[in-house]
Amino acid sequence: MSDPLSPAQELERLSAEAVASVGQAATPEALEQLRVRFLGRKSRLADIMKQLAQLPAEQRADVGKRANQLKALVETQLASRREALAATPAASAIDLTLPGSAIPQGRLHPITQTLHTVLSLLTPMGFEIVEGPEMELEYYNFDALNIPREHPSRESFDTFFVETAPDPKKGRRLLRSHTSPVQIRVMETRKPPLRIIVPGKVYRPDPLDPSHSFMFHQVEGLMVDHRTSFADLKGVLEHFLSALFGPETKTRFRPHYFPFTEPSAEVDIACASCRGRGCSTCGRKGWMEIMGCGMVHPNVFKAVGYDSSRVQGFAFGLGIERIAMLKYGIKDIRLFFENDLRFLEQF
Ligand code: DAH
Repeated sequence: MSDPLSPAQELERLSAEAVASVGQAATPEALEQLRVRFLGRKSRLADIMKQLAQLPAEQRADVGKRANQLKALVETQLASRREALAATPAASAIDLTLPGSAIPQGRLHPITQTLHTVLSLLTPMGFEIVEGPEMELEYYNFDALNIPREHPSRESFDTFFVETAPDPKKGRRLLRSHTSPVQIRVMETRKPPLRIIVPGKVYRPDPLDPSHSFMFHQVEGLMVDHRTSFADLKGVLEHFLSALFGPETKTRFRPHYFPFTEPSAEVDIACASCRGRGCSTCGRKGWMEIMGCGMVHPNVFKAVGYDSSRVQGFAFGLGIERIAMLKYGIKDIRLFFENDLRFLEQF
């Protein structure tokens, strides 16, 4: 067994202990408990003071001095710890003067925003939103749209085929290369008059570059009634484009070829960068192609069992990415699909 500590040694040990425990005290209550433990009436220090008189004279002065030093030390340690605690509020304390922390807010993707804008401009003109499958059959994507097998116009619609064994009537399964097949699906199941718009994703095996993506979005439009003319088509699209790009936007209908419409046209808007004078944005043409359209081909009506001597219709199709790029001045379609927050946060 080791010898009991001398009062001087004990005071030494107590001061080390006091310094360590005061330094760790986290609340004023804990400090008060330490004060009682080290300096209180029942503390070891109080005992040593009481027994001072019984010590041999040569020790008395030294122990008395050390005891006073301990008392002073503990008192200053307690005071400085108390100050430190007052300066750092407890973790749970709420500082009502701090500004609130912002909750990060999400937003719609620019393509979704553009799609919503396009739909919201067409629905007030009586067009109803309809959707169709992204996995389509050759018959709807091509045959019924007057794009026969082996016809060269199929080549302008490079296509992802997902099935090689064809169904004898409806052909192979594929990822639709445009939203036009939904025209067929709707006309097959409904009678005219019809006014529909069809938003959706379409797929083409194009190599990625600034203006091509293997997936993009289109909106298809179709109106069928007893009397529907090219003038109706022009009226609807001019109204739509001026609402979308601004009332001063000039439009032009340029003859074109699509298998499912006759006559067909491509619609251009005057280039927003140069206002028609010709610049690098529009390839010096002064115009930018924005959509395809035309009068529904009689063979398309025939495929769905409509009598083309009794109904007329127009159709149009536009690409959402292209519209978003023109509207926001974006030069590379790939930006839409990289999901870089620095890009997305600007919309
Ligand atoms: N389906 C065509 C395409 O993807 C776009 C199109 C052009 C749709 C003319 C139409 C139309 O309805 O009438 O290139």
